[in-house]
Amino acid sequence: MGLEAGRDIAPAKGKLGVMLVGLGAVSTTFIAGVENVRRGAGLPIGSLSQMGTIRLGKRTDKRSPKIKEFVPLAELEDLVFTAWDPIPDDAYTAAVKAGVLDRHEHLEPIKDFLQGIKPLPAAFDQYYVKRLQGTNVKRGKSKRELAEQLREDIRGFRKTAGVSRVVIVWCASTEVFITPGPVHQSLAAFEKAMEQNDPAVAPSMLYAYAALMENVPFANGAPNLTVDVPALQHLAEERKLPIGGKDFKTGQTMMKTVLAPAFKARMLGLAGWYSTNILGNRDGEVLDDPESFKTKEESKLGVLEYILQPDQYPELYGNVFHKVRINYYPPRGDNKEGWDNIDIFGWLGYPMQIKVDFLCRDSILAAPIVLDLALFFDLAQRARLSGIQEWLSFYFKSPQTAPGLYPEHDLFIQQTKLKNTLRWLMGEEQITHLGIEYYEKA
Ligand SMILES: NC(=O)c1ccc[n+]([C@@H]2O[C@H](COP(=O)([O-])OP(=O)(O)OC[C@H]3O[C@@H](n4cnc5c(N)ncnc54)[C@H](O)[C@@H]3O)[C@@H](O)[C@H]2O)c1
Repeated sequence: MGLEAGRDIAPAKGKLGVMLVGLGAVSTTFIAGVENVRRGAGLPIGSLSQMGTIRLGKRTDKRSPKIKEFVPLAELEDLVFTAWDPIPDDAYTAAVKAGVLDRHEHLEPIKDFLQGIKPLPAAFDQYYVKRLQGTNVKRGKSKRELAEQLREDIRGFRKTAGVSRVVIVWCASTEVFITPGPVHQSLAAFEKAMEQNDPAVAPSMLYAYAALMENVPFANGAPNLTVDVPALQHLAEERKLPIGGKDFKTGQTMMKTVLAPAFKARMLGLAGWYSTNILGNRDGEVLDDPESFKTKEESKLGVLEYILQPDQYPELYGNVFHKVRINYYPPRGDNKEGWDNIDIFGWLGYPMQIKVDFLCRDSILAAPIVLDLALFFDLAQRARLSGIQEWLSFYFKSPQTAPGLYPEHDLFIQQTKLKNTLRWLMGEEQITHLGIEYYEKA
């Protein structure tokens, strides 16, 4: 397949099945949000695919269609949802418990719809998420058997929901930290490890494997290793399927990937960055376990190193003290407070401080990301883009990249990459922001 601009993209005909792993705060806020938007009870704020525009051609051309009118995306009306969760609550009960959306304004009016979404039994093992206990779980002698059951779920959903395409987005808990090992290097080793119940195969990998075997794209919203291993990457490439992750970029890290590039652009130094959070939802409780926190910590810490390039700027960034804390504090529920204390220095080394206090709502920020990922991964599959979808780094804290490439974390570079990829898919010219043609006439 050539790299010249313009791809034949299969039309978004029929219904798109969105299978969510996990039916907690993020998933229910996403599902209930889409249904409210469909009924005219709210706007999909925060969703680039729904609200964003894309400039085409020269600034003087004045062509800036909405993204959803420029590329053939599935319509919100065509989305059908299901989920897996070890906790048996239906989407209504789970949404009420999560306490994100106003019960009277956004949940009661769609109660029947939400109650109709009951979680499928999960491939779950408490070894990987210490703070959770689940009853709605699959049984099987081996992990391979569990993966086969997940495949049956996907096939069953295709049939019963009458969907023509499916995407899977991991919105389930953060698993304990796992490093890539020999069982993750090839498909044969991975399949053998599933049969032998090797602890290096986490439940999230079983979902990813099942997705790929059923020709379904897989996006990973948590920092788990999951599809970030050669065995599953090769499988995705072989089967021409899009994959990507990891970890939705929502609050504090989104701010970090906006501010750090600004300091670097202005060649301001950084002495330290202390980030702390309090949150009281189930995610906070899971992350209170040191092993799950380690997975999250790695994901949150990486960004500064890549953006600031201390090797290239040792005087400015060679000695940065970077600390990230997450504290479980039940009274706040989903309304996280993220504080950042940033010690920067300027001209001749004079110190300055910046304080950011982001009183955010975690799932309100995450829900539009789930929507965009579902729609763009479906687009990617119809455009026959396979393997890691680096152009969707915009949505992730630890973007997956091809081996040997460092990840791009700067939010605005990621946005440019995303929009240029859409232009490229549709055979439009790239926008370089050179702009000299407005001044120098040939
Ligand atoms: N909200 C944000 O801003 C944000 C940002 C980045 C990443 N995330 C990640 O998204 C995920 C979801 O967040 P949340 O706030 O909805 O958490 P949550 O605890 O409310 O929901 C997660 C759900 O996943 C279920 N689950 C756990 N293991 C499972 C398995 N093996 N199979 C199926 N279901 C399983 C849990 O029972 C729970 O209901 C977390 O991993 C979180 O770290 C959230």
